[in-house]
Amino acid sequence: MTPEPANGSDPGVPRHLAVIMDGNGRWAERRRRPRMIGHRAGARAVNTCIDFCLERGIEALTLFAFSSENWGRPEEEVGALMKLFMNALEREVEEMHRRGVRVRFIGERERFSDAIAQRMAHAESVTARNTRLHLNIAASYGGRWDIAEAARSLARDVAAGRLSPDAIDEHAVHARTCLADLPPPDLFIRTGGDLRISNFLLWQLAYTELWFTEALWPELDAATLQSALDDYARRQRRFGLTGAQVAVPRTETSE
Ligand code: FPP
Repeated sequence: MTPEPANGSDPGVPRHLAVIMDGNGRWAERRRRPRMIGHRAGARAVNTCIDFCLERGIEALTLFAFSSENWGRPEEEVGALMKLFMNALEREVEEMHRRGVRVRFIGERERFSDAIAQRMAHAESVTARNTRLHLNIAASYGGRWDIAEAARSLARDVAAGRLSPDAIDEHAVHARTCLADLPPPDLFIRTGGDLRISNFLLWQLAYTELWFTEALWPELDAATLQSALDDYARRQRRFGLTGAQVAVPRTETSE
């Protein structure tokens, strides 16, 4: 993949932010409350994160809301999370639309109930023309699933004689993964203290800067997000090149 420049107007601001929202359960358990209370608080933190992206001019935000593996959680928690998604979809879509947010879902939609799948489709169609912020919600999503889907789509085209195996390169795979129309994430944030990717955007995160915080997701505030951006702005992204090759040339006005 070719290196993607950061935000054209301000190179210190990521164009695309990807987030693993971890720690809802622990946040609730520390308060001796049911885990679901943590997920509800987590839904409020989603709004904090969206507000921050809109204020900073971040173009795309991808949130890991529910992984392929999360279906294996206790039935009661899965059911309550589905209700929470359903309510959020009902409540927030008009407001997202009003604020110029385009909402999209990535993941295995067939695994959701018809009611939720219909709400997702509705949210996507209502907001389809918005461009201020691309909000991608990864739900029933796994990075391995994403890559396997791309492979399957390529195999189908080869089998149908529409594609030569020799034409399969990184670009061809990339074009069939989720979010191929957006720049890959510049910055990845994971709350909750664990230092792993957990089957999130495995293909798309190849050159993403990683940032981790002990803060639990419901504790998220603008200051924490700003710390991540400040750290990101200090990093040198080399995409496999040398430091000298990617150094920004000094101009007369910058001296
Ligand atoms: C991980 O925390 C979080 C989830 C599996 C669910 C994420 C859901 C939300 C943030 C709420 C609603 C989201 C939207 C998009 C409306 P965890 O339960 O694994 O926490 P733990 O590691 O402390 O147990």
